[in-house]
Amino acid sequence: MEEIDRSRVPQHIAIIMDGNGRWAKKQGSIRLVGHKFGVGSVRRVTEAAAKLGVRYLTLYAFSTENWSRPAAEVEGLMKLLSSTIDSEIGDLMKNNVRLKMVGDGRLPEALRRKMEKGEEMTKGNTGVTLTLALSYSGRWEIADAARRIAEKVERGEMKSGDVSVETFAKEMQMSFLPEPELLIRTSGEQRISNFMLWETAYSEFYFTDTLWPDFGEKELVEAIAEYQRRERRFGKTSEQIEDGGSN
Ligand code: FPP
Repeated sequence: MEEIDRSRVPQHIAIIMDGNGRWAKKQGSIRLVGHKFGVGSVRRVTEAAAKLGVRYLTLYAFSTENWSRPAAEVEGLMKLLSSTIDSEIGDLMKNNVRLKMVGDGRLPEALRRKMEKGEEMTKGNTGVTLTLALSYSGRWEIADAARRIAEKVERGEMKSGDVSVETFAKEMQMSFLPEPELLIRTSGEQRISNFMLWETAYSEFYFTDTLWPDFGEKELVEAIAEYQRRERRFGKTSEQIEDGGSN
């Protein structure tokens, strides 16, 4: 496995888990089989992230656009998510993982309640924060923040002149998370697909051809090693960064 600098591991990694369908097709199986094996990758990557010192892991599990997939696949995915919560909650507690959910809340009632219960049970855990984006889209999150601000202005709690990058960021559903230093997308696609549009302004993007069900600790370490080879400048010059970024 590649060597990484343990003192420069990103604190927040976001992942677009892609390629489950193609993985299943290659095996001659139906798409849902790919999603089932994808759950195994979620488990492996969460454990590896904890081991490596990553503090926050955010996974794109279901986008608002995914609702337009064939009904049988949508239903299968919802059932899979529900049974995964049941089977994994014990290990999440044992491994000190805090579970969080972000999204527009448009989920089957029983699943939404189960997720909320999982959040409640794990809220005191101090290890990795595992955030699942479910019925989520980046544009929705931005529009939702804008609506909250408009409501505050209507109620007289805020003035339009108070709207800034900082006050806006506070209204984003993901405001409890630091911005991800690294965004990974599997399966060879090189797109953001409406994921964390606001929060990835300065993230390093890492694309790999590996399909999500084949992604595990080794692949995560490779992504972190590549991240560590890059220089993050935040719009500054290389010289400023070499000076310690204080200029
Ligand atoms: C993308 O592959 C994957 C999804 C839309 C769903 C991801 C869901 C899981 C891995 C299971 C959820 C589990 C937990 C615990 C979060 P794709 O279907 O778009 O694959 P394709 O591009 O090859 O068709």
